[in-house]
Amino acid sequence: MSKIFKTIFGTNAVPQDLIVAAVKDFNFQHKIKHPGHHIQTNKIGIIPEITELVKRITGLNLTHKSGNYYEHSVPYLPHTDYNHFYDNSINVVIPLRYEGDKPYFIVFDQIWPNNSCSWMMDYSDPIDLGHTHLAVKGWPGEYPILNKTGKDVDEELYEKHLKHFHKYTLKNLSGKAYPFDPGNIMIFDNRKIHATGGGKWKKLGISLRFKME
Ligand SMILES: [Fe+2]
Repeated sequence: MSKIFKTIFGTNAVPQDLIVAAVKDFNFQHKIKHPGHHIQTNKIGIIPEITELVKRITGLNLTHKSGNYYEHSVPYLPHTDYNHFYDNSINVVIPLRYEGDKPYFIVFDQIWPNNSCSWMMDYSDPIDLGHTHLAVKGWPGEYPILNKTGKDVDEELYEKHLKHFHKYTLKNLSGKAYPFDPGNIMIFDNRKIHATGGGKWKKLGISLRFKME
């Protein structure tokens, strides 16, 4: 397994004009509607500008692999995005706008070194995640993820951001919550399990995947 990239969280890192350009671009792109008011695009028109920004912030030579705009109001399940077929391992999340409570983005310290996967937690009804994403039964802590804590999730992280899950489904996880404010940027290894925090919000962001050259 290649070295795990250390998470970068930047505040006031994305220029306002790039955010405005991104929202305009989103409005122009063809939207794909998923269940649960979840909208995605399969195209982003400002990849070169964003790639330059991410290269400058990380100091790395990165190649864009895939990504999309996404607007949703229901938190994403814990998942990873690494896919050896697409040869990517760095994720970039760029918040563009939100309504309602401030959303948070949770990056856990635990790693799933295999191809991308979503954990269904203890939901009994199947959730449609689209045809490209593998969803598995149960929760990450009962799978052979790396860096298991052997403990319950931190009380504060749980109470503030993860109460939409039963606590026992978060055992063996630890991590950090990053505020989804436009201007911020989260750059992390996409083999790290990540999820959206709870709350009543609707948010629009960009999620991109890169390969480290
Ligand atoms: Fe993701």
